Amino acid sequence: MTVVTELKKSVDVVALEQKVKSMYRDVATNPHGDFHFEMGRALAERLGYAPTDLDAIPAESIDSFAGVGYYFDLAQLKAGEIVVDLGSGSGMDAFIAASKVGETGRVVGIDMTDEQLEKASRLRDSAGFDQVAYRKAYIESTGLPDSSADAVISNGVVNLAAVKENVFHEAARILRSAGRLALADIVTDVRLPEGITCDATLWAACIGGALQIGDYIAAIEAAGLKVEHVRQNPEYHFISDSAQGATSRFGVKSVSILAVKP
Ligand SMILES: C[S@@+](CC[C@H](N)C(=O)[O-])C[C@H]1O[C@@H](n2cnc3c(N)ncnc32)[C@H](O)[C@@H]1O
Repeated sequence: MTVVTELKKSVDVVALEQKVKSMYRDVATNPHGDFHFEMGRALAERLGYAPTDLDAIPAESIDSFAGVGYYFDLAQLKAGEIVVDLGSGSGMDAFIAASKVGETGRVVGIDMTDEQLEKASRLRDSAGFDQVAYRKAYIESTGLPDSSADAVISNGVVNLAAVKENVFHEAARILRSAGRLALADIVTDVRLPEGITCDATLWAACIGGALQIGDYIAAIEAAGLKVEHVRQNPEYHFISDSAQGATSRFGVKSVSILAVKP
């Protein structure tokens, strides 16, 4: 039995989906509320997003930015490319990707939470990002064609999936040969005990579902992708007391990763 399967057994996946949807509904509609994690422009700039890139996209998408790291330098998006953002939230990274691939490119944002999709779509329409589409789907099953993407990006999302391997298999399926998976996510130094993985609130806050870094890399490679770069993002930290406690005990941290489909 793999570690990932054990994790799935220890959490009620139906309850977890409801919890995640409820938390990210609030992120979309009430971004200045109380969360375990930081959000918004100050966070984005601290993580490494260029102010000029942020100035070029809708400010409301930045208010609801709940990512955990910067990875666009690893993604190396080029004009005309097709990009899929797994867990696009209120759309910030999809809009940044759209600025990089230009009008001849295309970006598809995938998310399961209606309020996030509605907000991102409204902002897309008002700002005229015609090359961006937001699509309601699970990141484990996007419905997109095989080998159709030049790059798959994701920020702070895969840790929320009950079975990370399913997400990485989906990314590998939709990437073309030599396509890139570039993401930021939360991982741990040591495997989390059940008391943490069974806590749906900590899971939805991007902690309870975090895999040990070695297991995370192994899950990407098991999907047939080659991990080329891993770096830590010490600029990211959780803000609530319970989240900070778990962080220091288990080495919960943000990393940015680049993997390539052979
Ligand atoms: C931490 S937020 C990050 C959003 C965005 N990437 C950002 O940087 O602001 C996680 C997002 O992933 C979505 N999500 C979580 N699990 C998902 C799944 N299995 N399928 C589709 N969307 C999912 C949530 O609805 C939420 O919008």
